[in-house]
Amino acid sequence: SGMGFKKVCTLDDLWEGEMESFDVDGQEILLVCAEGGDIKAFQGICPHQDIPLIEGSFDGKKLICKAHLWQFDACTGKGINPEDCALAEYPVKVDGDDVLVETEGVTPLFAHT
Ligand code: FES
Repeated sequence: SGMGFKKVCTLDDLWEGEMESFDVDGQEILLVCAEGGDIKAFQGICPHQDIPLIEGSFDGKKLICKAHLWQFDACTGKGINPEDCALAEYPVKVDGDDVLVETEGVTPLFAHT
């Protein structure tokens, strides 16, 4: 643990339209580079069940979990289908070529049952 932004990867590790997952402070974090080049960091585990989102698909706009095909907006983390769920988002900072993420104070979300 510990406060502050941690370097997760460099810009070369994450091209537009790609996703990668990383362990940061013991939390699985999914970095996505959406169409347009915006980099976002979300919880790496699906809010539905214990499935890593990296095993699903990403088309540059939507993340789709492989297990039951829940869909999330890659810019906001909001559920598209179903709508009553969301991915927790971590603050991201780009410093030169480095991509940094802050995990402090963010807790992965889980869908209500
Ligand atoms: Fe992701 Fe069910 S575990 S949609």
